[in-house]
Amino acid sequence: MTDKPIYVTQPALPPLEEFIPYLQQIWDNKILTNCGPFHQQLEQALADYLGVKYISLFANATLALVTALQALRITGDVITTPYSFVATAHSLKWNGIRPIFVDIDPKTCNLDPAAIEAAITPQTTAIMPVHVYGTPCDVDAIERIAENYNLKVIYDAAHAFGCKVNGKSLCSFGDISVVSFHATKVFNTFEGGAIICQDAKTKAHIDHLKNFGFVDETTVVAAGINGKMSEINAAFGMLQLKHVDAAIAKRAQVNKFYTERLRFVRGISLLQDNRNHDSNYSYFPILVEADYPISRDDLYNKFREQNIMARRYFYPLISEFPMYRGLPSANAGLLPNAKEISSRVLCLPLHPNLEDAELERIMSVIIACAKKHQHKRAARN
Ligand SMILES: Cc1ncc(COP(=O)(O)O)c(C=O)c1O
Repeated sequence: MTDKPIYVTQPALPPLEEFIPYLQQIWDNKILTNCGPFHQQLEQALADYLGVKYISLFANATLALVTALQALRITGDVITTPYSFVATAHSLKWNGIRPIFVDIDPKTCNLDPAAIEAAITPQTTAIMPVHVYGTPCDVDAIERIAENYNLKVIYDAAHAFGCKVNGKSLCSFGDISVVSFHATKVFNTFEGGAIICQDAKTKAHIDHLKNFGFVDETTVVAAGINGKMSEINAAFGMLQLKHVDAAIAKRAQVNKFYTERLRFVRGISLLQDNRNHDSNYSYFPILVEADYPISRDDLYNKFREQNIMARRYFYPLISEFPMYRGLPSANAGLLPNAKEISSRVLCLPLHPNLEDAELERIMSVIIACAKKHQHKRAARN
């Protein structure tokens, strides 16, 4: 009999009975969408929780990214990272913007500020960095570059819910930050996302854009989209918010377990660096180095054989997908760090429901591969 599957992530769900009163309220007031009472409550509650002023809820983060670019009227070329989930670059493409991929800093997996600066041309209008795994980008350097060259900054902060740098919410940087509340994220509303911006005028514009451009019953000011979060998602968010600190605390324990157990495994190096920021422990990436006895893909397959779904985030690079690979900036020779990390990275399962026995199962695969192959090596020598 095969063991129960262990997924790279699994949503944290509150007890079902806790959700019933929220549903009852929706049934009573019969407002299902269109920025109703739960939508408004969740905007306020998230602004308080995240320590930001202006937040606008969306049906998902991809729509929020597309809308953020519209709100700032971005055109031309935008510098971004190849080391992310495809939605980052897709949001540019949906706006007719050309992504310019530049290399990452191998220590953080985030855009390298020097590479950003070197790629700026007269066509560059903005930078779209990603706080990959919730690790902060070099926000100070990016701000300096943006100021010097008069560029907008739209952070894809899909992974960064609840992360802080020097006590400040990581979602509060740039002209705009976008967070995801997808089922796989630390804070989920089944599907969902939000734009965080810096002033009331921009928030009002974003609120119009996500509602077809409507300002009032008869006034449409832009070719907007339907990006609104529904009441059921917002109500669920209100409930989830009560549990999110406990979920992050459980994630921190798993993070600690892996860190302690893997620190001394030869050939496995850890990417997670929580020294300078408050992490949300959303992912646990490891790098399978050349001195580990088997390759990253072989280890990935060994996990699969044991019904453990570790994932190669992020492989392939976005710049390798067919709709981007013809771009001059997609040339792998220009992206050596991203290419190298992408070929070595493996994200281990990390979610609040993981049990000790499951963590031991995961560790035993890594240790067994290390030992078995070392024996083989020794026998050959
Ligand atoms: C970096 C990044 N950007 C954008 C998205 C898109 O978010 P959503 O699924 O909420 O549209 C995701 C993941 O889902 C992501 O990981």
